[in-house]
Amino acid sequence: MKKIIIGSDHGGFELKEILKEYLKELSYDYEDVGTKNRESCDYPDFAKKVSQKIIEKNSRGILICGTGIGMSMAANKIKGIRAALAFDEYTAKMSREHNNSNVLCLGERTTKEIMAKKIVKIWLETKFSKEERHHKRVGKIMKLE
Ligand code: RB5
Repeated sequence: MKKIIIGSDHGGFELKEILKEYLKELSYDYEDVGTKNRESCDYPDFAKKVSQKIIEKNSRGILICGTGIGMSMAANKIKGIRAALAFDEYTAKMSREHNNSNVLCLGERTTKEIMAKKIVKIWLETKFSKEERHHKRVGKIMKLE
């Protein structure tokens, strides 16, 4: 797979650092667009950076903030992004299989490290379904304005 683009605000910084190590363990390449420390910053700036790189490189990415909510709201404003806030393995898997999510959002304050790793693994490994109905529905999402 292409490089995974990863980013967070201050609320997701520690989980981002943990997940970078985990991506290495799983033999995925990544590009970290920041933030670089716990200093307060604005999550939409990082949602934008990650999303634009994903569109540019036709890749996938991970965004982390305190809850994952702000990141998912912001990323979904960018044309071509389908950001999913997953909270367990089932939602992560379904977001790939049915919705072809290209961004995974996580909340550092709401998801424990062990669950975050399980979510990341299954999200990376699951492919978009070949079923026509899912392609039709995602096509409809992409036409919404
Ligand atoms: C930052 O305090 C927090 O609001 C942010 O990380 C995120 O949870 C927003 O959705």
